[in-house]
Amino acid sequence: MMKSVPLKHARVGMFVVEIPGHPALTLARQGLISSPELLAQMAREGVTQLIVDPSRSQVSTPAPPPSPLSAPPTGPRAASLSDELQRARSLYSRSRRLQQKSMHQVRQGQPLDLGEFELLTTDLIDSGARNDAALSCLRQIRNKDEYLLQHSVAVATLMLLFARHLGYRDDLLHQMVLGALLHDVGKVLVKSEILNKPGKLTDEEFAHMKDHARFGADIMKRTPGITAITLDIVANHHEKLDGSGYPNGLAADQLSTFARMITLCDMYDAMTSERVYHRAMTPPQALKLMRSMAPEKLDSELLGQFIRCIGLYPVGSMVALSNGQLAVVMENHPTLPHKPRVKTVYSLTDRRHIMARELELTQHNVTIQHAVDPAQYKLELANYL
Ligand SMILES: [Fe+2]
Repeated sequence: MMKSVPLKHARVGMFVVEIPGHPALTLARQGLISSPELLAQMAREGVTQLIVDPSRSQVSTPAPPPSPLSAPPTGPRAASLSDELQRARSLYSRSRRLQQKSMHQVRQGQPLDLGEFELLTTDLIDSGARNDAALSCLRQIRNKDEYLLQHSVAVATLMLLFARHLGYRDDLLHQMVLGALLHDVGKVLVKSEILNKPGKLTDEEFAHMKDHARFGADIMKRTPGITAITLDIVANHHEKLDGSGYPNGLAADQLSTFARMITLCDMYDAMTSERVYHRAMTPPQALKLMRSMAPEKLDSELLGQFIRCIGLYPVGSMVALSNGQLAVVMENHPTLPHKPRVKTVYSLTDRRHIMARELELTQHNVTIQHAVDPAQYKLELANYL
C-alpha cells in the first residue's frame, strides 16, 4: 500500500516510487533516498510530495496524508440524497457560469482567476463528503447541448469519486479535483467553429482541436498559484501509456498516476455522454471498450479500481430488471457490483410509470438484465431522483 509523503516529512531510507507532477524526475529519483543531500536537491527541483512504498523502505513512513490505494471509508451519509441533490445542482450551475466567465477572461488575454475554481473545488469535495450519490446522479442527467460547459464538472465529479475511492484526501484530493475541473481549459483557445462543429472533424480540424491540451498547459503555467499536480492533470489528460496520445506522445514511464487517472475519467465521461452527433454509450459498453484499451493505452490496475469505484451500473443510471421493470440505481453494493440498491420507476410490460419503490437487489430474487439509455423510452432521469 503506497503512501503519499510531503517532502518535508521524507527521510533517508524511504523508497520513492513516484514524484507527483514530475514524471521526468520520477525516473531519475525513483528508489531509496540515500542521503539528506538528495532530499535537498529535490526541494530545489520543486518537489513537494513523494509517493513512497513502505514495504521497500528501510524506515517507517509517517501516518497519512492519504495512502492512494487504501479502501474508502464507509459510514452513514451526512445528508439525504434529496437535500444534497439541491446543493449539487447549484454547484453544477455555478460551474457552468464559471466556465463561461473564464472563457471570456482568457480570450481577452486576462489571467485565469483560480480563486473561484478553488472555491468550487472545495464545495464539490464537501458535497461528495456529505453524500456522493448526488454529484454522481447529476452527472447522468446532463443536457447534450451543454456538453462542453458541463463536461468539466462531470469529469471533476468522476475524479473526486475515484480519488476518494483510492484513499486520497485533503490537499492532494483538492489539487486533483481542481485539475479535473480545469483539464479542458485550453479549449477556450480553440476556434469556436471547430469546437462547436456538430459533426465529425476533418484531420486538419482534429489536429487543431488537439492543441487544446497544449493551450491548457500554457494557460496553467501562467496562472499564479497552480501546483505541479494540477498542471500535470491539465497537460497530460490525453496522453496514453503506449505513447500514442497527445500533445507530447509521452511514454508510460513518463506518466504519473494523476495523468493516468484523468485519462480514464475524461474518456469515460466522453463515451457515456450524449452528444449532438452521437448517442451515449451505456456505462457497461464504455467500460468494455476501455478494458479493450488496457494495458496498452490505459492503466489496467487503475481501470480495475475505477470500475470498482464507479460501479458497473453507476449511481443515477437506469437499468432493466428481470421483473420487467426499469429502475434507477441509487447506491452501489461495496462488494457485489451486480446487486446495487435501485428504485423501480417504470413497467416495461404495461408501458407505464409505476409507484416508485426501493429494492435492495441483494435481498430480492430480481436481477439486472442490462443498462438502459432512458432516452430510448423517452424517460427523463431527472424526474426520478
Ligand atoms: Fe481534453
